[in-house]
Amino acid sequence: MGDISLKSRDCIGLADFSAEEIRYILNTAKDMKNKLHQDVKKFDILRGKSIVTLFYEPSTRTRTSFELAGKYLGADVVNITSSSSSIVKGESLRDTLYTISAMNVDAIVMRHKAEGAAAYAAKVVDPVIINAGDGAHAHPSQGLLNLFTIEEHKGKLAGLKVAIIGDILHSRVARSDIAAMTKMGIELHLAGPKTLMPRFLEEQGIFVHDRIEDAIKDADVIEVLRIQLERMKGGLFPTTREYARIFGLNADRLKLAKDDVLVLHPGPMNKGWEISNEVAYSLNSAIQEEVENGVAVRMALYTLLLTGGENK
Ligand code: CP
Repeated sequence: MGDISLKSRDCIGLADFSAEEIRYILNTAKDMKNKLHQDVKKFDILRGKSIVTLFYEPSTRTRTSFELAGKYLGADVVNITSSSSSIVKGESLRDTLYTISAMNVDAIVMRHKAEGAAAYAAKVVDPVIINAGDGAHAHPSQGLLNLFTIEEHKGKLAGLKVAIIGDILHSRVARSDIAAMTKMGIELHLAGPKTLMPRFLEEQGIFVHDRIEDAIKDADVIEVLRIQLERMKGGLFPTTREYARIFGLNADRLKLAKDDVLVLHPGPMNKGWEISNEVAYSLNSAIQEEVENGVAVRMALYTLLLTGGENK
């Protein structure tokens, strides 16, 4: 990894990162997870750095873990949400970015409903931009924490069969998974309603199934996606009861996968719709571990993007 440097890079989507760069981030996240388990979680790696999280959409996991990750590493972190800032007075995205940038911050972690918002921010202001989700486009830190959690359990990535189930069309998580998992040699199988399945996936070497049963058969990992009713336009979605019957992951269906199948979900879960209570809290589930790993991965991202990792 000696010749790789991610210093001062923006993190807009995992399509912009090579397999070697993703490997570097995952390896660094391992070091960070060890730090998370120390009694005193306070380090000097980001001492003197300032970070603003700017969220135009709700979040529990991503916003909190980016905040904690920065604080554990010694940075000053300030949170801005659209409802408690001058955004409610009509301040534009560009002016908001200019205003934050004028305070000499080192990084802006940004979530926005519009695809391309983070890329736009990277063009108009100097701080490192980390995309915490832009519409249905990308959620790179979620893609990374999924890889990290899978590798922690399976000891490898290449050659695994991973099934992703649900609303692929509206899922920035699925897009980040696809970008990174295919690079890391994972065999991807997708299933969901035809109305919620983008086209041309097969051309990228991805297997697309009409039935969940075919996607999860002998899978090493199943990732269930959240049904994003807030992003759906009329007519794309059956009833939630119908969805649960045809695509819901329940204990009976889980038996089709490998015995040690790992179940992931980015959260928040619609339990009883896309995933049953029993599966969500089963021994196969790593859904809570994903949350912990999210902090480690975000610590790694900050370290590599803001310092180059020289001081880790
Ligand atoms: N996984 C995820 O993005 O969750 P939040 O919306 O709670 O951040």
